Amino acid sequence: MLVVAPVTVLSLGLVPRHATIVDRQTVGSNYTFVIAGGGIAGLTIADRLTEDPSVSSLVLEAGPFDKGEDGILIPGAYAPYLYFWPNLVTVPQAGLNNRSIGTVCAKVVGGGSAINAMVFLRGDEGDYDAWSSLGNPGWRWKGLLPFFLKSENFTRPDLTFARAGNISWDDSFRGNSGLVQNSYPNYFFPCSANWWNAAKSISLEPVKDPSSGDKQGIFWIPTVLNATTMTRSYARRNHDDRVIASRPNYHVLASNAVTKVLFRGKQAVGVNYVPSGGGSSSTVYASNEVILAAGCLHTPQLLQLSGIGPPKLLRKFGISIVVDLPSAGKNLQDQPTLTVPYTSNPASVGANLEPNSGTLLSNATYNAEQRALYDSAGKGPHTIVSTLSTNIGSLSLRGATAAYKQIVAQARARTPADSLPADVEPTILEGYKAQRSLILQQFENSTVGVGAIHWGTADSAVIYHEKPLSRGSVAINSTDPLVDPLIYYMTVTDPIDLQVYTALFRKHRQIFSAPAMRALDPVEASPFGAQLVTEDEIAGVMRDQINPSNAHQCCTAAMMPRELGGVASSEQKVYGVAWLRVADISFWPMQIAAAPTATMYASAEKVGVPPKPLGFFPDLFLLVTGTQPRSLWLRTPCRTMTDCGAAIACRCH
Ligand SMILES: Cc1cc2nc3c(=O)[nH]c(=O)nc-3n(C[C@H](O)[C@H](O)[C@H](O)COP(=O)(O)OP(=O)(O)OC[C@H]3O[C@@H](n4cnc5c(N)ncnc54)[C@H](O)[C@@H]3O)c2cc1C
Ligand SMILES: *[C@@H]1O[C@H](CO)[C@@H](O)[C@H](O)[C@H]1NC(C)=O
Ligand SMILES: *[C@@H]1O[C@H](CO)[C@@H](O)[C@H](O)[C@H]1NC(C)=O
Ligand SMILES: *[C@@H]1O[C@H](CO)[C@@H](O)[C@H](O)[C@H]1NC(C)=O
Ligand SMILES: *[C@@H]1O[C@H](CO)[C@@H](O)[C@H](O)[C@H]1NC(C)=O
Ligand SMILES: *[C@@H]1O[C@H](CO)[C@@H](O)[C@H](O)[C@H]1NC(C)=O
Ligand SMILES: *[C@@H]1O[C@H](CO)[C@@H](O)[C@H](O)[C@H]1NC(C)=O
Ligand SMILES: *[C@@H]1O[C@H](CO)[C@@H](O)[C@H](O)[C@H]1NC(C)=O
Ligand SMILES: *[C@@H]1O[C@H](CO)[C@@H](O)[C@H](O)[C@H]1NC(C)=O
Repeated sequence: MLVVAPVTVLSLGLVPRHATIVDRQTVGSNYTFVIAGGGIAGLTIADRLTEDPSVSSLVLEAGPFDKGEDGILIPGAYAPYLYFWPNLVTVPQAGLNNRSIGTVCAKVVGGGSAINAMVFLRGDEGDYDAWSSLGNPGWRWKGLLPFFLKSENFTRPDLTFARAGNISWDDSFRGNSGLVQNSYPNYFFPCSANWWNAAKSISLEPVKDPSSGDKQGIFWIPTVLNATTMTRSYARRNHDDRVIASRPNYHVLASNAVTKVLFRGKQAVGVNYVPSGGGSSSTVYASNEVILAAGCLHTPQLLQLSGIGPPKLLRKFGISIVVDLPSAGKNLQDQPTLTVPYTSNPASVGANLEPNSGTLLSNATYNAEQRALYDSAGKGPHTIVSTLSTNIGSLSLRGATAAYKQIVAQARARTPADSLPADVEPTILEGYKAQRSLILQQFENSTVGVGAIHWGTADSAVIYHEKPLSRGSVAINSTDPLVDPLIYYMTVTDPIDLQVYTALFRKHRQIFSAPAMRALDPVEASPFGAQLVTEDEIAGVMRDQINPSNAHQCCTAAMMPRELGGVASSEQKVYGVAWLRVADISFWPMQIAAAPTATMYASAEKVGVPPKPLGFFPDLFLLVTGTQPRSLWLRTPCRTMTDCGAAIACRCH
């Protein structure tokens, strides 16, 4: 039986009009949606939800608004540290010679999109197909592609320049009506051609379009650039400022941190928050849902502080348990990075080597000249993110090493439990086994990436390990919400990860040994160098040099079945409670073969779509499956539902 839901429009009189940016005096106390975290997910979803004027959303963001600094807006002046979350440090990392390592995430309106390196890549088809295999129908590549297209507005580069620089794309994989601006720098450092040609000479083929779901090979890096101004396109601009004047129902309260989700019974009803610098606590209520979008490190902290997490941990801190959910905070994955330094023999430096990305930093005259060109014409090296170059290579394991079969065989022979803590809960182990088996299938699949190689054209190259088998975790160390959680990346504690990583390293060395790179005479510098030959020698130095994070942390509140250690359903609803959803990168089950931003925007577009009205009744929505009311997005405030029974829709009050 279908029931028409009565219209219950929130009175907008409760909240100030045309005051999108609110402060603690003007913030309302009741909204349809309260969103914790104003990063990519938080702002994208708030934007989409408030397209409906009967919905109101408050985004609470721990960080401030940026001030339009050059370091944010101008690629060549990139200064991410302006809005790093301060003083984050890992616990000693057993796989990395017990180093405790400074680590970063964003603390600013716009989140990572405001300070990231603007790399805008999609994962491979197999990445999302694996998500789907973990109990998430709809999250396959084909299910996500429409949202990739919806999220972006691709501006073609100048065609003559594109031909000269080897930029290529396929229009059918690029969106044109979305709000995230996607384009390319309009300059390349001459020596990036050496790298390109060297990679080609060892059979890394140019890719028609890296956004097509298979990008093994070499290609230009799509960049989140507003092509009109050649400035950063980020969530604050594209999903907040853009609608500032027209959305009285969309509020952002900056510099305030959510401290706890409030429950009535098992229903989330609102949150507490405090000024990020400390101060008195306030409460705001959500008539529909509380949405967690605080990023991979802080969303699990919020779950745990709110009583959803491993019972032992919660008891240790005297937190009363709302849901016994050991997996909340587990399954942490990042994409470790390895920087390989080079010295060039000055006697034989090719004429081609200058200028390079380092010249902007080392030669103030050149930097000033090029900045003037950028300011006047939007051209030149300042359209490239500082320290990066314009091309990159993506590798499947098969593409990285002929020995991939041996690596996979060894990985299959290993007992999965050995890669997790000894006291792992059975559901988490089951989920890990499922993930591991999918990753090993990816290792055998030449269309799915495991890592990437980049040379910024100056004195170092970077190798990214994208598909770790190791799993970490995030755990509170205090009941004080302003104290950061403990971060256990557990990088390369699964020894197979280091085998994959050394394979990537050797491939990188092959590129640097090919004639086109040899022409520049790069010499691998200490602590690397030609003396490192065997697997053990290379791996030994790697343990000392790997950075466990590329600020691509994910997966600590994974959407997977609860029996597989999931935290949230395939609709991102947190198990064991109602009206609470995880919308940021925490809900991804596994890493993808790409930096996260493009997928984060697309997944937020998918999460933020309100359900379609059914038939002729504009207020009727498909609401319920099973015996428990399980709402999809509701356009109208709907706290209580009746007449559900076994029906597929409920009455909404
Ligand atoms: C320096 C850096 C470089 C990067 N480079 C790239 C790149 O080149 N390409 C790419 O694709 N990806 C890159 N990333 C990663 C990418 O930006 C993130 O994966 C992405 O932003 C994650 O989106 P999110 O919505 O999950 O979280 P975020 O965008 O991180 O947003 C989370 C927000 O929640 C806020 N928050 C946290 N706790 C609370 C709380 N208690 N209350 C209220 N607010 C809270 C944070 O301040 C933050 O603004 C980079 C990230 C960083 C930090
Ligand atoms: C806000 O919600 C709370 C809790 O549901 C309720 O007690 C309060 O009356 C509401 N306030 C307003 C102004 O609607
Ligand atoms: C790391 O620390 C652990 C525990 O203190 C210790 O057992 C181990 O030997 C250390 N490893 C290294 C490489 O120092
Ligand atoms: C490789 O992955 C793609 C994308 O998921 C899939 O279509 C294809 O069947 C896989 N190939 C093999 C041999 O498994
Ligand atoms: C897409 O980009 C072009 C400029 O490159 C701009 O003119 C157009 O307005 C943009 N469209 C959207 C929807 O942002
Ligand atoms: C582009 O490709 C051509 C042909 O392979 C090569 O000669 C040229 O050096 C390349 N240029 C760049 C910038 O990659
Ligand atoms: C590009 O940036 C300018 C300046 O911020 C802005 O006015 C314009 O709307 C942006 N273009 C798009 C398509 O977002
Ligand atoms: C610095 O750049 C200027 C301007 O491009 C150039 O003339 C000069 O030779 C450069 N200096 C050095 C030391 O390379
Ligand atoms: C965790 O908390 C304990 C007790 O307050 C403290 O001694 C320890 O330094 C904290 N650990 C970290 C890594 O902050």
